[in-house]
Amino acid sequence: MALQASSFLPSAVTVHKEGKSSFVVKKDSAFLGISISDHHKSDFSVVSLRSKRSLAKKSNQSRGLTRAQTTSITTPSITRATTDGKKTLRKGTVVITGASSGLGLATAKSLAETGKWHVVMACRNFLKAEKAAKSVGMAKDSYTVMHLDLASLDSVRQFVDNFRRSEMSLDVLVCNAAVYLPTAKEPTFTAEGFELSVGTNHLGHFLLARLLVDDLKKSDYPSKRLIIVGSITGNTNTLAGNVPPKANLGDLRGLAGGLNGLNSSAMIDGNEFDGAKAYKDSKVCNMLMMQEFHKRYHEETGIAFSSLYPGCIATTGLFREHIPLFRLLFPPFQKYITKGYVSETEAGQRLAQVVSDPSLLKSGVYWSWNKNSASFENQLSQEASDAEKARKVWEISEKLVGLA
Ligand SMILES: NC(=O)c1ccc[n+]([C@@H]2O[C@H](COP(=O)([O-])OP(=O)(O)OC[C@H]3O[C@@H](n4cnc5c(N)ncnc54)[C@H](OP(=O)(O)O)[C@@H]3O)[C@@H](O)[C@H]2O)c1
Repeated sequence: MALQASSFLPSAVTVHKEGKSSFVVKKDSAFLGISISDHHKSDFSVVSLRSKRSLAKKSNQSRGLTRAQTTSITTPSITRATTDGKKTLRKGTVVITGASSGLGLATAKSLAETGKWHVVMACRNFLKAEKAAKSVGMAKDSYTVMHLDLASLDSVRQFVDNFRRSEMSLDVLVCNAAVYLPTAKEPTFTAEGFELSVGTNHLGHFLLARLLVDDLKKSDYPSKRLIIVGSITGNTNTLAGNVPPKANLGDLRGLAGGLNGLNSSAMIDGNEFDGAKAYKDSKVCNMLMMQEFHKRYHEETGIAFSSLYPGCIATTGLFREHIPLFRLLFPPFQKYITKGYVSETEAGQRLAQVVSDPSLLKSGVYWSWNKNSASFENQLSQEASDAEKARKVWEISEKLVGLA
């Protein structure tokens, strides 16, 4: 049985030149962990046609997927002149995966209510996402729900097709969705037979991001960003990252074997299945891929690639598969003992900053926040910043998702 506690204590920060709330970490943050157990309805009146239609209806029906709501919108030009002659930026379009709950939903709400963003909620459960958007008071014309099941590469490709047909510009992509299966005794698998945590959190997002980077390239928005949500738990240079089982991709033999649990291990490192470790390994892949995207695309495209640790949002659905005692004790433990707790609202505001704040535009960065909620560039663990490993994970992943 396990109880996890964490406290987020950057030990030394210096002001980062790009923004007054940005800091560069000199030493690593401490995170105490104990584990007990086991658009664009643009505000300028260009053509804006909103329609609910099932573009993917045919193929979705044949695969039993829920319907997709798409919006046909002509992207307005980048700026418009106001009556006083000042130019204002058009609404940006941000795609957020897993926006039906937790961090994704809070971020969607935070961005939508600024009036500056149209949010595409890329979710596996259409009705849940629609209800979630309503429940947090998102204005109807501030979002579009589109179906995406990251545990199916077909669904990822279908989402990309649907998104392109909507004719929205893609300005920011946020890879946020995740599953965490800490109590699973046996591995479960995606539609293509990859272990579910790595298959969803890493491979599904990898295919999505690789395909949509072409759409980001085409955007005329001044700050195009691709954000992949990371986690402290995948960073073994922190106390939390040292709570067993620790993330470790090993020599990648399981990943190279296809993570199918039949002729290869379901784990990236080729060892016995461990659900908590599979999640942490998937987060290492997320952080490695952010850096590899930066290396391969930033200079050529100007897209800013970043990752982040939003803080310990102990109340989200991420912990839904954990034992009831853990779910009961984890939030108060984080709030009152470790003080590492961050509310969903605040975490959403943090991720929203990474989407839109000019001071968080630097590429190749893993963002964190200190106790005063000031952002700083954090250091990744040795493994999560291993350039050679990043290259290998990229190449193997390209083969697994059918891009090589
Ligand atoms: N909670 C924390 O303390 C914490 C800390 C560090 C990092 N994070 C990261 O924050 C991100 C969001 O997590 P959260 O805490 O907000 O958890 P959450 O509330 O469980 O949100 C996860 C989201 O992912 C979606 N999802 C799961 N499987 C999917 C699939 N196959 N296809 C499409 N969407 C799928 C879920 O959809 P449904 O609504 O349909 O289930 C849900 O919307 C994750 O990347 C997580 O690693 C969280």
